[in-house]
Amino acid sequence: MPDLTGKVAIVSGSTKGIGLAVAEHLVRAGCSVVISGRSREGVRSTVERIEPYAAGTVMGLPCDVRRPDECQVLVERAVDGLGRLDILVNNAGLGIFRPITELGIEEFQAQVETNLNGVFYLSRSAIPHLADTGDGWIINVGSLASRNAFAGGTGYNASKFGLLGLTEATMLDVRDRNIRVSIVMPGSVNTAFWEREQVPERTWRLEADDCALAVMQLLDYPPEAHVSRIEMRPSRPPAK
Ligand SMILES: NC(=O)c1ccc[n+]([C@@H]2O[C@H](COP(=O)([O-])OP(=O)(O)OC[C@H]3O[C@@H](n4cnc5c(N)ncnc54)[C@H](OP(=O)(O)O)[C@@H]3O)[C@@H](O)[C@H]2O)c1
Repeated sequence: MPDLTGKVAIVSGSTKGIGLAVAEHLVRAGCSVVISGRSREGVRSTVERIEPYAAGTVMGLPCDVRRPDECQVLVERAVDGLGRLDILVNNAGLGIFRPITELGIEEFQAQVETNLNGVFYLSRSAIPHLADTGDGWIINVGSLASRNAFAGGTGYNASKFGLLGLTEATMLDVRDRNIRVSIVMPGSVNTAFWEREQVPERTWRLEADDCALAVMQLLDYPPEAHVSRIEMRPSRPPAK
């Protein structure tokens, strides 16, 4: 795993699930990390949980990624407080799965605003700082739903297909500024993401740590190499 001593990362949606696992791995690699999410209490308790084993600084800054002004403030406070920004992990997201006629307008908007628009806002604010380091990273957490449509997925698929396009276009825009942009695309992961949806418990989900490992592997590549997309699925689905 990479040695990230002296580096600084922002992880959106890092109070739970995949974002929390990514933050924990970054901290163990020596990176200073900004924990973020909408819930102030969630941010506070996550910082408290991670700080005891952090080599670098752990900072907590609440931010709703649907708000461009809050995204700008998050990046500015992170850079003011920690001196630089090397890595942005755009992880905050949600999924609401219903047929199009049953999906509320606000439910559709919430998914696009969080899973897609929020990535644009944070990336746009972060890019000047990532460029300053000479070896910047944006890692977006997409999904196998970024490439595979499914019934009940209008909002989620729209947001995650869009995210794949946003990721690849951003990669082309900023690669001459020494910023690598990648997308990690997991299948089902065992997190609180599914709590709202009343879907049957699956025994063949990935774990949040598996996704964090993919992020760490990306960061381990030498500067001349860029893995731009990782697709992940559980290795042992049940036999049909
Ligand atoms: N779980 C899966 O099966 C799976 C599979 C593939 C991809 N993914 C993707 O992985 C990412 C993380 O999912 P997860 O499974 O870890 O979900 P999770 O356990 O529900 O965690 C979501 C995190 O995002 C934060 N968040 C939600 N809305 C936000 C907003 N508007 N602004 C800022 N933070 C926000 C939450 O904190 P607050 O509620 O306090 O804001 C929380 O920290 C998402 O992008 C999801 O689409 C998940």
